[in-house]
Amino acid sequence: MSFRADVITLFPELFPGPLGASILGRALAEGRWQLAATQLRDFATDRHRTVDDTPSGGGPGMVLKPDILARAIDAIAPEGDLRPKLLMSPRGRPLDQQRVRELAAGPGALIVCGRFEGVDQRVIEARGLEEVSIGDYVLAGGEVAAMVLLEAVVRLIPGVLGAAESSHEESFEGDLLEYPQYTRPALFEGLAIPEVLVSGDHGKIARWRQQEAEALTARRRPDLLARSRKKAIGKAK
Ligand code: ADE
Repeated sequence: MSFRADVITLFPELFPGPLGASILGRALAEGRWQLAATQLRDFATDRHRTVDDTPSGGGPGMVLKPDILARAIDAIAPEGDLRPKLLMSPRGRPLDQQRVRELAAGPGALIVCGRFEGVDQRVIEARGLEEVSIGDYVLAGGEVAAMVLLEAVVRLIPGVLGAAESSHEESFEGDLLEYPQYTRPALFEGLAIPEVLVSGDHGKIARWRQQEAEALTARRRPDLLARSRKKAIGKAK
């Protein structure tokens, strides 16, 4: 069975959106992964199709009702469905490449997109929703966040990226940011390609790239450099 993503959202018309384009879109059309977006309102029980209510205890905004969301989750991922149930939320654990790899190795995901002030805590607990954030900023809703997560995950599914687009030497796979890349022309606005890259000396090129990657990571993401050194020490032991 191929990787299957189900998205619960108030805006199913946003999907597949960018996930339907380019390499991921082709893989979707070829059945290498599956995507379905479900309208949460279809699980409302009143004639206004209400999905939210005011926060208990007061305060601004609206909260997604637990009963309606639970009905949707149970319909789409009944007991025995082994896929993780994710809730896109700025309160979540920040998404990283390790979690992305784990998700890509699994059977798929059920993804709930929040809107409004949030989701009733009881349904988060009762259905074991894993809250996932894509960064320390607040979006208007979880839909774009779900697309970000799926784009990162689906490109790692075997057979989705061809050999030409293969992913193993990129930033985060090895915990360093990627070294700078160049291509022709040899001179661009008076700027030359670094000598070493046209030297033909592959050992020298590899060492230069490693140094550049470390220098860039030290400048831009010292947190990553500390992690990568720890990992290297761990491996040497
Ligand atoms: N919904 C709103 N903001 C979000 C974020 N930063 N990550 C995931 N889901 C969100």
